[in-house]
Amino acid sequence: MAPVVFVTRPLPDPGINVLIESGFEVRANNEDRPLLREELMAGVQGADALLCMLSDRIDTELLEAAPALRVVSNYAVGFDNIDVAAARQRGIEVTTTPGVLTDATADLAWALLLAAARNLGAGERLVRAGEWTGWSPTQLLGEPLRNQTLGIVGMGAIGQAVARRAQGFGMHVVYCNRNRVESEIEDSLDAEFVALDDLLRRSDFISLHAPLNDQSRHMFNSRAFGLMKPTAVLVNTGRGAVIDEAELVNVLRDRRIAAAGLDVYEFEPKITEGLLTLDNVVLAPHLGSASTLARGDMVRLCCENIVEVLAGRPAVTPAPG
Ligand code: GLV
Ligand code: GLV
Repeated sequence: MAPVVFVTRPLPDPGINVLIESGFEVRANNEDRPLLREELMAGVQGADALLCMLSDRIDTELLEAAPALRVVSNYAVGFDNIDVAAARQRGIEVTTTPGVLTDATADLAWALLLAAARNLGAGERLVRAGEWTGWSPTQLLGEPLRNQTLGIVGMGAIGQAVARRAQGFGMHVVYCNRNRVESEIEDSLDAEFVALDDLLRRSDFISLHAPLNDQSRHMFNSRAFGLMKPTAVLVNTGRGAVIDEAELVNVLRDRRIAAAGLDVYEFEPKITEGLLTLDNVVLAPHLGSASTLARGDMVRLCCENIVEVLAGRPAVTPAPG
C-alpha cells in the first residue's frame, strides 16, 4: 500500500506533485483556510506523513490520532506549533524550512523598520483618505537610521541577515542570543554581543528574531518596555507572543516608545483591539516569508523532507533540538 501524505493547505508553485510522482497517496485540503481541529484530527488518521502549517497545532492528542505517522513536515521555520518532544518520543521526525526564507524575512523586517521609522502607514492612510493637502515642513517627521543602534534579539540566520543589511544604513548593531555567535560572524557583521537589558537601553531600533518558547514568551513586557528609549522603534517578524501585546498598546499609546512594525501577533489572526486605532504602528499580515522564491523553496524543502524520511533516510532539515 502506498504511504499516505496529508497536506493541510493549498501550496504555491511548484506544488506537491513530487509527492504524487514519488508514489504516495496524497490527501489534501484544497480550500485556502486553516483546517478546523476536527478536520485536522480526521485528516491525520492513517497518514504516514503530515505536511502542516504554523496554524496547525500538533500536540499529543493529535499524534495519538495518527499512529502510522513517521514525519511532520512544517511549512515554516518556526515550530512552536508542534510538540517536538512528544513527536520524537513516538519516533516521529519533525522538519522545518530554515535557510530558504531567511532573505525574504530579513527584507520584510527592514520594510517594517523603515515604514515604522518614517510614518509610512500614517502617511499612506492620509493620502488614501484624500486628506493630504501638500508637502509640509513639519508633517510626519520620523526617526533617522544612520549612526543609530539596531538591537537584534535572536541572532540566528534571519537575525544575521537583518544585521548584514544594517551595514548599508550605517547603523551600529548590538545583539543578544542564547549563545554568542562565532567571532568571525560577529566581525563580519560588526555586531556586539550584549545582555538583553543593555540592548533595551541602548537600541534606537529593536528587531525580534528569537523563537517562541517558555523563555521568550512575553520577553517584551512592561519591565522590558520600561528600559527602552522613548524614541525606540520595535519590529517583530518572529512570533507575536514574544511581546505582551496588551502592554505594547499601552506604551505605544502613551508614546513611551515611538513606534512599532508588526508582522506577527500574540493571538494571530486576531489583532489586539487597541493596535488598530494607533497611528504609530505598522501592521502587516504575517508576510515574512511571502516572496514567490521563498515560498516555492519552502514547498520543495517540505516535500523533500517527507520523501527522505519515508524512504528511511535522515531528514534534510530536522527541527533543531
Ligand atoms: C513563519 O512564520 C515561519 O516560521 O516560517
Ligand atoms: C522635498 O521634497 C524637498 O525637495 O526637500
